[in-house]
Amino acid sequence: GDCAGNPSISLPGNLYQPERSNSQGLDLADEATLHALADVLSASRTWGGEGDHAVLNPANLQDVVGHIVFASAESVAEAISTAEIASTEWGVLSADQRALCLEKAADVLEDEMQPLMGLIIREAGKSYANAVAEIREAVDFLRYYAARSREVFSEPTSKPLGVVACISPWNFPLAIFLGQVAAALAAGNVVLAKPAEETPLIAQEAVRILHEAGVPEFAVQLVAGAGNVGAQLVRDPRVAGVLFTGSTEVARLIQKQLADRLNPDGTPVPLIAETGGQNALIVDSSALSEQVVADTLSSAFDSAGQRCSALRLLCLQEESADRVLTMLKGAMTELSTGNPQLLSTDIGPVISSEAQAGILRHIEEMRAKGYRVYQAPLSAGCEEGMFVPPTLIEIPSIAVLKREIFGPVLHVVRYPRAGLDRLMDDINATGYALTFGVHTRIDRTIARVTERTHAGNVYVNRNLVGAVVGVQPFGGHGLSGTGPKAGGPLYLRRLLGVSPPLPLS
Ligand code: NAD
Ligand code: ALA
Repeated sequence: GDCAGNPSISLPGNLYQPERSNSQGLDLADEATLHALADVLSASRTWGGEGDHAVLNPANLQDVVGHIVFASAESVAEAISTAEIASTEWGVLSADQRALCLEKAADVLEDEMQPLMGLIIREAGKSYANAVAEIREAVDFLRYYAARSREVFSEPTSKPLGVVACISPWNFPLAIFLGQVAAALAAGNVVLAKPAEETPLIAQEAVRILHEAGVPEFAVQLVAGAGNVGAQLVRDPRVAGVLFTGSTEVARLIQKQLADRLNPDGTPVPLIAETGGQNALIVDSSALSEQVVADTLSSAFDSAGQRCSALRLLCLQEESADRVLTMLKGAMTELSTGNPQLLSTDIGPVISSEAQAGILRHIEEMRAKGYRVYQAPLSAGCEEGMFVPPTLIEIPSIAVLKREIFGPVLHVVRYPRAGLDRLMDDINATGYALTFGVHTRIDRTIARVTERTHAGNVYVNRNLVGAVVGVQPFGGHGLSGTGPKAGGPLYLRRLLGVSPPLPLS
């Protein structure tokens, strides 16, 4: 568990949670709710304001979702200066005063759920169900870190770091964006929030809501832009900590940059990096095939495979591989891939033309190597959008996978009954260690693989996605991230100038 080695803890870290409850979300089986959502989605609202940067709907590039201003180097520098001034205003509040602002923001998010869902569906190409989950998770992060900060700050030694940069990806444009910001704010820091260039509009709404909820204007500032804006934040000596979620490559660049400087108190600049995965699911011949198929579909193809947690590598024991594959291909045919503004759509677009091109290139490379490729059909009307059909590729060994393919592409390998340990070694040898799963009805096999895996989040006889804040703290090891786990009890402590012992007694 997370808390191993800390003598003050009696509970396994992952079981410990502060007092609060998770968001209920929205009932998509309720007809009135669905009518209201249909209205929200059919209204051709534009978001943001004046700005030189147009945000396009990845499901239909003719649909301009809104405009935003990308920050210049001067405005980023100025934002850091105003943040420094604001840190005296925010950092001196009591933990409870700060937590109340975050909890207010969570309430506003729930109140505004439907229009925000409309924005997330158009800006990020998420399905209805994913858009609900996105807002729920953001609400959960706000309430979790608020509750946890009250406990952490009951220790007199706790003090904020100061100015913190939060740099986030487009694939959870609200949940991860706000999760980082909420944690940094709860720990008393002031924040420069750099959303991904693909999804700045929902981030702008999130910052508006934080301000409405009482977080001072300069305690959290949006700095929209591309990677150069993130790089400028990381370089600036006034930035005392960095929270990054995104690709392993960019995390390494940031780590190199931070290695060149120290904070004024002589300590290294803390970095939390949550990065990619090469996530595997092992299925032995005792597993329940119907359940394997359902869990494989959701793990590999939900959100068009654009989750760091998504299944990339399905490992089938030889004896049952053909049976599972036949069922899986049949079920893939039933998936509806197309416009996420329709409730009937299971799988939306990938985020951009660059992403689409990269994924399609990978599929063609695999085909050219002679590996068998199976693709599910796309719905009609996908011509204007960045769609990739759910794809299954049978590969001879894990070693042919050179990088994370961030899309709806599932690789399948077969392994012999006697090859389980070797298979585990091959999975671990990728260096990634984010999510891992096993489907089996043999207890001994569960013990054997869960003991051997390096992955941060391990799932038994279920899917690999959708970790719940507080209940399943999320994060990996090795190439997949630095820890501590997001939505877990240790996260805030990395964001403090002095780490107090956990007040659990
Ligand atoms: P990315 O690394 O391309 O971008 C992430 C953020 O970093 C963006 O805001 C980007 O503008 C910024 N950035 C780019 N270059 C930078 C630089 N040199 N310095 C500072 N910032 C810079 O990642 P992405 O394409 O937005 O997201 C997809 C990746 O994120 C996948 O690899 C996925 O596995 C990973 N991810 C991981 C987790 C996790 O919890 N482990 C969660 C979600 C996504
Ligand atoms: N927390 C997200 C999931 O588990 C990434 O799918």
